[in-house]
Amino acid sequence: TRAIIIDTDPGQDDAIALLLALASPELDVLGVTAVAGNVPLSLTERNARKICELAGKPQTRVFAGAERPLTRTLVTAEYVHGKTGLDGPDLPEPTMPLESQFGPDFIIDTVRAHPAGHVTLCPLGPLTNIALALIKAPDIAPKIREIVLMGGGFFEGGNVTPTAEFNIYVDPEAAHTVFTSGVPIVVAPLDVTHKALTTQARIDALRAKKTPVCDAAAKLIDFFERFDEDKYGTDGGPLHDPCVIAYLLRPDLFTGRDCHVAIETGSPLTLGMTVIDWWGVTGEPANAHVLGDIDAAGFFDLITERLATL
Ligand code: BDR
Ligand code: CA
Repeated sequence: TRAIIIDTDPGQDDAIALLLALASPELDVLGVTAVAGNVPLSLTERNARKICELAGKPQTRVFAGAERPLTRTLVTAEYVHGKTGLDGPDLPEPTMPLESQFGPDFIIDTVRAHPAGHVTLCPLGPLTNIALALIKAPDIAPKIREIVLMGGGFFEGGNVTPTAEFNIYVDPEAAHTVFTSGVPIVVAPLDVTHKALTTQARIDALRAKKTPVCDAAAKLIDFFERFDEDKYGTDGGPLHDPCVIAYLLRPDLFTGRDCHVAIETGSPLTLGMTVIDWWGVTGEPANAHVLGDIDAAGFFDLITERLATL
């Protein structure tokens, strides 16, 4: 099994990613750290626990992390995810406990407690918790196996500003810390996630499983996709965050390329832009494997098959 920590701001697509991870025997979810992003931290940590309970895994350890970005005011996305962050299904309030340790400290302790190259971090929201851990404990950087994250947009542009994707835009300084940390990084940008569209046929396939988890997942996706469908006129919306977990399970579903990626932290016009050196013009060595394509049918089959086991 592969040991992972999921850092997340649920979010309907984060929720599907959590369900996919918790349903997969190849992955050992050491803990879930919540971060402020789509909605404030008090909701994201609660939503993370709701999803662990929905998955029938209340023993999963959930931690609360950063309440706000490193230096900036928090920007949220209720206009996408609804007031609760998990609008759609009617999920009960969680009864499983929230761990008392601060999320970034859990990340530090867990990486230190395992042999080098053991723990993979999976950030699905703004990178604040990961950056806080790396800043407080730089010794963990060479011990992290890999950071596989959803964030950024290259040819696809941005979804908050013309050039910035939400997770990077909310905390660009944290993203800069992560991309300059020396830890091997895999990026699932909008270029990939915008190809993972939740068509009606794909939602129907999930519903046809007739399980409480698949039904709730279908409701989450139904709510979530309306935003992009309305905005872009597509059949279905992109299912961003599960791409990270799917990559861990089935890297063969993706193609990508090693490149150098830098984060814009200054310009008001392009703040949070992921600047990629496709042609090696900077001479900087690659710091990320940037995913570019996905087998969307295989991706949705994987989600449907796995969620049906919960
Ligand atoms: C990212 O932003 C959030 O709204 C989603 O959960 C995803 O992580 C997509 O830009
Ligand atoms: Ca997210």
